[in-house]
Amino acid sequence: MGFLVITLPKKIGPYEVIEILGEGGVGSVYLAEQGPPISRRVAIKLIKLGMDTREVLARFELERQAVAMMSHPNIAKVLDAGETRTGRPYFVMEYVEGKPLTEHCDEHKLNVVERLRLFVRICAAIQHAHGRGILHRDVKPSNLLISYQDGHHVPMVIDFGLAKVLSSGASEATMLTTPGQLLGTPSYMSPEQVELPPDDIDNRADVYGLGIVLFELLTGSRPHERELGTGGLPALLRNMQREESTKPSTKLTELNSSLEDVAANRRTNPTSLTKRVRGDLDWITLKAIERNRERRYESVAQLKEDVELYLASEPILARPPTHAYRFERFLHRNRIAVVVVIAAVLAMVFGSGTSTFWYLKANSSRELKEIPIRLMDQLRTNVSNAHLWFEEALAGDLSLSVEEDVLRPMREAHTSVTLLRGGGETERGPIDAIREPETAELLRQLDTDLELLLSKSVERWTKREDEGQIGGELDQAFDHLFLGILDKANDISVSLTTASMKDWRTLAKMSILMNALGLALLLASFLITLGMVRKRFR
Ligand SMILES: Nc1ncnc2c1ncn2[C@@H]1O[C@H](COP(=O)(O)OP(=O)(O)OP(=O)(O)O)[C@@H](O)[C@H]1O
Ligand SMILES: [Mg+2]
Repeated sequence: MGFLVITLPKKIGPYEVIEILGEGGVGSVYLAEQGPPISRRVAIKLIKLGMDTREVLARFELERQAVAMMSHPNIAKVLDAGETRTGRPYFVMEYVEGKPLTEHCDEHKLNVVERLRLFVRICAAIQHAHGRGILHRDVKPSNLLISYQDGHHVPMVIDFGLAKVLSSGASEATMLTTPGQLLGTPSYMSPEQVELPPDDIDNRADVYGLGIVLFELLTGSRPHERELGTGGLPALLRNMQREESTKPSTKLTELNSSLEDVAANRRTNPTSLTKRVRGDLDWITLKAIERNRERRYESVAQLKEDVELYLASEPILARPPTHAYRFERFLHRNRIAVVVVIAAVLAMVFGSGTSTFWYLKANSSRELKEIPIRLMDQLRTNVSNAHLWFEEALAGDLSLSVEEDVLRPMREAHTSVTLLRGGGETERGPIDAIREPETAELLRQLDTDLELLLSKSVERWTKREDEGQIGGELDQAFDHLFLGILDKANDISVSLTTASMKDWRTLAKMSILMNALGLALLLASFLITLGMVRKRFR
């Protein structure tokens, strides 16, 4: 502070001055104590020299009735107005212990949603005043004070209606106070406030001011920097007519190095912040700060409604309602339900898909084993038939051909064993070579036995008159071989069937396991969703 000495007035009217609260465009604001009968602290705005006190106070008297009619918990009341002994006008207002909106939001690191909720409450207060025919005309962060009470952020709109009271004579049709000085802050001022007489201003001027405030809440900066330079009002107006409004999201990307801080103040990172602002919030802000008031929101109520729609993930009014946009909003609104459905469908597809896969695999493996089992059955039939016809032929049945009825079935039986040992194509489909060691060994023996049986048959047929006859020496050896072949074929059949059953059981178990895993995934997705729901509604 050092050398700066501020001389406080001791008293303003009947009010005891305690300290200075701040300095604005039209004067200084003091904290003061109101004496009996009502003891309370008030804020007093003491207007700078240079205003026509009589005119200001006369306008205040005119407005007084309307201002007194405002009764809203978020609007600071203007209690009184008066004139100091030296002839300066002053206004007595409710004292608000709070910080300007943007400062407060950054200090408390409010995120975008929290800022928007606060913004909605400010809109509601201003909407209340509009309902009673009073415009603010100077909506900007320093007139939106936020206090922090019992963990709640409470907005208070101050200076309501004062801009009108302080504006100079209507005939002049300008917002200039003392020459070269503008009442209100150009950056928040709607173009028509510079252009038109004060009486032609309507609700939409406050919509504009709120739009700039919203822009600043989102991006930490204003869409355009305006100054009342040497060119005066005409130059300012010319500049305002030329300016293009950038989208808040574009503004964010233009911030470069300071974007990191802007995002941190909103408890997020640059990418997420830009993503959040892009789209609906761009549309809402731009519609509020349209240069032409015909294209702006018609009322603060509409602006408020759109922000509320955005907060509820409903389609907003500022944006063309395409089907794709409405569908996107629907998905966003119901994102928990969407996640549940997708997770459930995925779990079901996974569960039934994999279990079907394993079931089909089990079946095809069984089919594959079925061909060898059938081949073995056929081998037994062939060998048995061959044995039967051979005995008949030996007994003298001349209608039989040994080559056709005995040797051919035996050769066929031999071929099927070769197939089973080496693998290959059959008329029923391809078969794999049998690899189970015990079965493979049995097949090898069967192979040798069948070759032996063939040669024994030929030998016995040539010697059918003596050793080959039924009951002869060769007959005994032949029968022994024959029975051995049937036994081995039977053993092979049994082992193939057992192996097939075992395979099938393993694969069926896999299928059940996959189904259970699918169910577990489904359950997990439900639990995760439950966690999301609880987090969201906590
Ligand atoms: N009712 C009040 N209660 C507490 N502090 C206030 C009150 N009114 C004003 N102040 C403080 O005084 C400062 C100056 O206020 P003032 O209204 O004069 O200037 P401004 O809002 O910056 O500009 P303008 O003159 O356009 O309103 C404000 O920033 C605020 O900190
Ligand atoms: Mg102010």
